[in-house]
Amino acid sequence: MLLPIIMAGGTGSRLWPLSRELYPKQFLRLHGTLSMLQETVIRLGGLDVHEPLVICNEEHRFLAAEQLRQIDQLSHNIILEPFGRNTAPAIALAALSSLANGDDPVLLVLAADHVIEDTPAFHRAITLALPYATAGKLVTFGIVPTGPETGYGYIQRGETLDTGGAGVHKVYRFVEKPDAATAKGYISSGEYYWNSGMFMFQATEYLKELGKFRPDILAACEKAIETPEPDVEQDFIRVQKAAFLACPDESVDYAVMEKTDEAIVVPLDAGWNDVGSWSALWEVNQKDENHNALTGDIFLHNASNCYINTDEKLVAAVGVDNLVIVNTKDAVLVIDKSQVQDVKKVVEYLKNNT
Ligand code: GDD
Ligand code: MG
Repeated sequence: MLLPIIMAGGTGSRLWPLSRELYPKQFLRLHGTLSMLQETVIRLGGLDVHEPLVICNEEHRFLAAEQLRQIDQLSHNIILEPFGRNTAPAIALAALSSLANGDDPVLLVLAADHVIEDTPAFHRAITLALPYATAGKLVTFGIVPTGPETGYGYIQRGETLDTGGAGVHKVYRFVEKPDAATAKGYISSGEYYWNSGMFMFQATEYLKELGKFRPDILAACEKAIETPEPDVEQDFIRVQKAAFLACPDESVDYAVMEKTDEAIVVPLDAGWNDVGSWSALWEVNQKDENHNALTGDIFLHNASNCYINTDEKLVAAVGVDNLVIVNTKDAVLVIDKSQVQDVKKVVEYLKNNT
């Protein structure tokens, strides 16, 4: 049976000021009434899967446990990292701990911060992928790209693997976050998918490939999970701090997916959006007749194409177009919707000055 691994240890800094270190985006209700983490778990309903294993930062343990409890996930399968070392180690820790009782499950690795509108289509892609993962392949889920985004991995299709027309291909090449000119070339070639950031593979296959390309990461993770820190709360799996400190920081995309020869791509057409920015969030949210996406107490006159989110205070906006306004207790963001990637400038400034 499939074991879902939910990676929930990112900082989501591109959604500042709502997403903070203490409350990153996967725990926020950004799209509907559930948090992104809760939506990720609920979306698995109807699939034949084990209870998910969540891996996040120890600072967020109560937040994660409480959000899972709210949706009736009673047993806590939560691995806690003392600090983030990115996704290659996070998946390794989860894979190693999944082997603990002699199993070698197929892992369905999910990000905790994606919107997927069409759950049945998502389930169909998972069902299509399963036999390939069981046969030892590292499955990526490819999204038909809509523009030369530089925040994604790009997957070039290789030879066809299925005869039924479902579009399963070998991965000819995987390039993580290319520069803008390269991404443009990829888009115009028509041969590339975006990497969705979700994967499926047998636990031992992932560890084998990681060991081939990054034995240093594998060794540090093995040490960190084999001798876990004692857990006073008895509810969590705690990674050993000293061993994990020695682990390099690297994403699964660079550490394994760019290098392996075992990757395949299953197309995913399910209304996927990684809501990695305020403009992406504007896209997935409901809008009024002037294309404004609004949350909170807001007065508008002659305003269009805006994303506005306010905590408590009224926000009034007049004669504006294409703006993002996010109002929280201690910070207000006003930014042009075409420049939302530059929220990182604010976050950098705050890091250096507070
Ligand atoms: N446990 C844990 N520990 N989780 C982490 C860590 C960590 O150190 N770092 C990130 N995560 C979680 C995030 O919370 C998110 O759910 C997921 O892992 C992916 O991390 P991101 O930091 O959001 O990655 P990205 O968006 O830059 O890139 C990835 O996703 C893109 C699609 O959204 C890559 O896989 C790209 O190739 C892909 O296109
Ligand atoms: Mg992301």
